[in-house]
Amino acid sequence: MFNPRQTIVRSVSSEHPDPKVIVEAAEIIRRGGLIAFPTETVYGLGASALDAGAVESIFKAKGRPPANPIIVHVASASAARQLVLDWPPLADRLAERCWPGPLTLVLPKRPIVPDIVTASGRTVGIRVPAHPIALALLQDAQIPIAAPSANRSSEISPTTAEHVQAALDGRIDLILDGGPTPGGLESTVLDLTVDPPRILRPGLVTIEELDEVIGHVDWDETSREHTAKGPARSPGLIDRHYAPRAKLHCVKVGETSPVQELLARPNRVGWLRLHPEAVSNHTENAVVIDMPSDPAAYSARLYAALHELDDAGVDQIVVDLPPEGDAWLAVHDRLIRASAK
Ligand code: TXA
Ligand code: MG
Repeated sequence: MFNPRQTIVRSVSSEHPDPKVIVEAAEIIRRGGLIAFPTETVYGLGASALDAGAVESIFKAKGRPPANPIIVHVASASAARQLVLDWPPLADRLAERCWPGPLTLVLPKRPIVPDIVTASGRTVGIRVPAHPIALALLQDAQIPIAAPSANRSSEISPTTAEHVQAALDGRIDLILDGGPTPGGLESTVLDLTVDPPRILRPGLVTIEELDEVIGHVDWDETSREHTAKGPARSPGLIDRHYAPRAKLHCVKVGETSPVQELLARPNRVGWLRLHPEAVSNHTENAVVIDMPSDPAAYSARLYAALHELDDAGVDQIVVDLPPEGDAWLAVHDRLIRASAK
């Protein structure tokens, strides 16, 4: 059971975070409390990564399965090195190129990282977030911050402080409201303990960018299916994830019949539409959201759009599937998981 608490919300400028608010937040982290804060990807729910009790309260507040490890956020690559047994040259190159930024590196952990952070695994996922509020908090707290996305387990990640509040009010101590997060999808998780390095979760850093730095990365399109058959390589790869309350249907370009069929029913339907020119006779039952055709803008909008459709109380969501390709990989991944039964 979670420990009920009063949740304070503080609005903070994303460009110039008010040092007084940051000091207050860092103090809460140091004494074992829970704080939601914006990163460049989504809002995180942070606690001191070196305090097993504080990290346990993250699991309770989220209702997170204990087998799912948590990413540790640090202020710099040198702070990251303190947490791992091995820091390969590849880690240096990736940190140089991608940090601060949406890339999580999985490396063998040192004993100072409590087992609860890594779900008793031998590796720890670490990243330096590229958001002034997150960085200010890490610099002031001077301790690594363990932070999953600030949603209830298996629900959609939050891209605004309002999303966080709706999910976690009364369960956490403080929400730093820095406005909408610019990236909108989570970081890329890259396992550096195998050769070649393997992508465990596609994210805002693309395979193409990683290939440029390290030559070759392994991405197994079918890895999502493995979770149904065997142990998860990354426990976050459980099938139904990032899911709205409504049932979500992905529709390929040209495949209009499922849309027409759903829209013809009397239930309320949400539609994330990519092709406004697609004609439909039945949009009066639908809440239509026209999505950007650029992958970065689409990513930034996706979770907020799904939150809006849930709030509108639709029972079914139709999503026009964006094109294939590296730039859309993370979007496809999240849509497929959100539509899993
Ligand atoms: O962008 C992000 O990564 C956000 C912000 C807050 O940093 N965080 C985030 O955390 O998305 P979470 O807990 O929602 O997802 C972390 C993913 C999960 O799939 C988890 O299983 C995986 O990373 N992960 C974390 N540590 C790992 C480890 N040591 N080995 C394998 N996978 C790991
Ligand atoms: Mg999450």
